[in-house]
This record gives sequence, C-alpha cells and structure tokens, in this order.
Amino acid sequence: MEWPIFQMPFIGNRMLIAIIGTIHVSISHGMAVGGSFFIVLLHYISIRTDNQRLNELVFKVLGIFFIITTSVGALTGVGIWLSTATVSPGTIGSLLHIFFWAWFTEWIVFVSEVILIMFYYLGWDKYGSKTGFKIGVVYVAASWLTMMLITGILGAMLTPGQWLATKSFWSGFFNPTYVPQLMTRTFIAVLLSIAFGLFITRLHKDYRDQWPEVWKFAGKSLLIASPLFLLFVLSYYNSLPLQISHLTSTALMTMKYATWAYLSKIFYISIVILMMIFGLILLTKKKDYVLLSFIPAFLMVFAMGNMERVREFIRKPYTIHQYLYSNALREDEAPFLNKTGVSAHLGWAERSAKETDPQLRLGEKIFKLECSTCHTYSGINGITKKTNILQNPELNENFLKTYKRSHPFMPPFIGTDAERTALALYLDKIVKEANGKTNVQPSEGNK
Ligand code: HEC
Repeated sequence: MEWPIFQMPFIGNRMLIAIIGTIHVSISHGMAVGGSFFIVLLHYISIRTDNQRLNELVFKVLGIFFIITTSVGALTGVGIWLSTATVSPGTIGSLLHIFFWAWFTEWIVFVSEVILIMFYYLGWDKYGSKTGFKIGVVYVAASWLTMMLITGILGAMLTPGQWLATKSFWSGFFNPTYVPQLMTRTFIAVLLSIAFGLFITRLHKDYRDQWPEVWKFAGKSLLIASPLFLLFVLSYYNSLPLQISHLTSTALMTMKYATWAYLSKIFYISIVILMMIFGLILLTKKKDYVLLSFIPAFLMVFAMGNMERVREFIRKPYTIHQYLYSNALREDEAPFLNKTGVSAHLGWAERSAKETDPQLRLGEKIFKLECSTCHTYSGINGITKKTNILQNPELNENFLKTYKRSHPFMPPFIGTDAERTALALYLDKIVKEANGKTNVQPSEGNK
C-alpha cells in the first residue's frame, strides 16, 4: 500500500498487460523456444543430407527469428516487467521476495541465450556446420531453460500448493501444476514455431526448390507434436479445475469455469485434429499451399491466447492464489485492515486524490487502491458504466457489503464501515457525473 497507484486510461491496467504479454508470449514461445527447435532440427537435416541450399534457407529463416526475438521479443519481455511492476508493485515485490533466485538465474540464462543466438546466427559461416550446430543445440537448451524457470513462478501464482503452509522456495516452484504446464508450453512452443516457420519459409521465394524439404519436416513434426500437445494440455486442465473449484466456494465461479474448461477441451481437440490434418497434407503432398502457411499460425496463437486467458481468469481475485489479491492487499492482513481501516496507509493515493470533500476524497482513494487494478473510470470494464448496480449510495453500499458472495472474482471489500460508506458515495458521484446526472449533494447522500 505504500506504492504509487497507476491507472492506464481507457484500456485499463489488465488490457495493458494482456497486450504486451500476448505479443511477448507468442514470440518467446514460437520464435525463441520453439523456433530454436525448428531451426536446429532443420539445420541438422541440412548437414545430414549435405544440402547446401537447405542450409542457406535455414540461415535465412533463422535471420528473421533472430531479429524478431532480439528486438520485439526482448523489448516486450522487459515491457512485462515494466508494466506489471508499474501496475502492481506490491505483487511483483512479493514474487521477488519468494522467487528472487529463480529470477536471478533466469536473467543469467536469458543473457546467455541472447549471446548464443548471436554466435549461432552471426557465426553461421565462420564456425562451419558442425560447431555451428553445437552452438545451436546449446541455444535450444538455454531457451527452454528460461521457460522452465518462469513457468515455476507462473504456476505458483495459480496453484501455490504447499507453499501457502511452508513458504519455501522449492514447494512454490515445484507447485502442483508445474510439470503439466511446462510440458504444455513446450509443445505449444514447438507447434507455434512450425506454424511461424512455414510462414517465414514462404517469404523466401528464391529457395522454392527447398520448400518441399521444409514441408516434409513440418508435416512430420506436426504429426508427432500435436497429439503430445493435446495429451499435456488435457492433463494440465485436469490438474486445474478440481483444485480451483475446491478453493473457490461459490457455485457461480465453479459453473462459469466448468463451462470454460469443457469448451476449452473441445477447442483444443479440434485444433489438434486440424493441425494433424495439415501435417498429413504437408507430409504427403509436399506442395506449396498458401493457406497452410497462415492458418496454423493463426490457430496456435489463438490456442495459446486462450490458455493464458483461462489461467488468468481462474486465478481471480488473486495474483498469488489464496495469498495476495489482485489489488495487492494480502488476504491475511484483511482482518487487521477491517479494524484499522486501509486509509491510514494510503500515502501515494493521498497525493494523487483530486476530490476536496473529505468523504469523497476518502472514497476516491479507496477506489484507486482496491478497484482500479481492474476497473477504469469509463473505458474497458469502466466503473461508471455499471449503472445497473451502482444506482444510489444505499444500493452501492449494499453491493459493497454483499458482492463477496455474488462476485467471487473480485477481491472482497477491505476496510472499515466508514470507508465503505465513503466508497459508496464516491461511486455514486462518479457514476452520476459520467452519465450526465448531477449528484444530489454527495456528502449528504448517505445521512
Ligand atoms: C480482480 C479484478 C477486480 C477488482 C479488483 C474489482 N473488480 Fe469489480 N469487476 C471485475 C470484473 C471482471 C467484473 C465483471 C465484468 C463483466 O464481465 O461485466 C466486475 C464487475 C463489477 C461491477 C458490476 C457487477 C455486475 O453484476 O454488473 C461492479 C459494480 C464492480 N465490479 C465494482 C467494483 C468495486 C467497487 C471494486 C473495488 C472495491 C471492484 N469492483 C474491484 C473485476 C474486479
């Protein structure tokens, strides 16, 4: 709570992170982790068959992966840090406390990964095929290792498991969904890289004679990797809902998620069937199909987006399940704050508050602290658009008292009765202001 409060106008904090995150994950999985598999295996085929033309084509494709991963990929990686630490310094602070050494190691491995791809790409002619290939293999390992480390942290946020009791690094890192999530990510990376690889290969029309080699390789890889992906993604999903539905006691959330999980499964099965059909076509026909270089990339980005969306969705209202709420208030400090109030600790919100009326000012600060992580004023998930619920101070207050049961994806209201009343008044004021009605003397509204 001693942290500055940041509100991204219009698109909101969640969407800001989602945009940067989606770009980063597509590139890091598809072009760095998976891309390294794709390139190094094709490189191997070119050495084994002594095919110089294929070798050149692989180098060209690597060039594009190299430029994109080291520019957009690396920048959005930093962007995730910057945006998440700005939006929720409390969450990143907590995670750093728990996982400092994992992140530290990941940083070293990441720097090694960048150095390795530089040697691999820039030294392609210099180091010759054999040594170059070895550098490539180490590059694959380093790329995968970064994912292996980050998945531990992501998994712990969703299913901290034993960590809640032990608070030990290892029980957090090797949490209940760690292995299935890591394996799912590995195969999603492989599939994405094939999809991107097909697309990028098509851009190199001078090497048209080598395309059938790539189609054959891609077809085979799709046929092998797709069912494995399905196996792991299903095991990942099976490891999730029971746990989460036990944890979230409300029927609404469970029902909501149950349909999600069910639909997600059908969705993944359909995608995998499609990918296998594409694989079969590529392998047997070895022909140049324009659509086949676009559709798999589109489907896989969509599949991955869905996976990340569900992961974030079922974690609500927490950033670390059962420990830290999305607004960076800790679950275990709620009873204390309900007695003493949150406003005593609002240094930064105090500075940025605009209201002059003391009660409205208090409400504004509490809104910024407890609600603004997920609600903008009038943009995406805008609070002033919730006119069906926020009709007048009494109804607002009633909502704040009861929404814990009806809306389990929002953190419960934390604070004293006076603070709740102040928030109800402030909500009333901003809703009426935004919807063109002038408020009836806000400070008297609840007397
Ligand atoms: C973890 C994110 C999160 C936080 C924090 C949060 N909300 Fe929400 N809130 C949501 C989501 C998601 C919805 C549902 C949006 C939708 O699908 O319509 C929602 C819906 C609402 C609604 C409309 C409910 C309805 O049934 O139509 C109100 C009112 C609301 N929130 C008020 C608040 C207030 C006040 C706070 C702060 C005390 C708050 N929210 C904090 C995520 C959050």
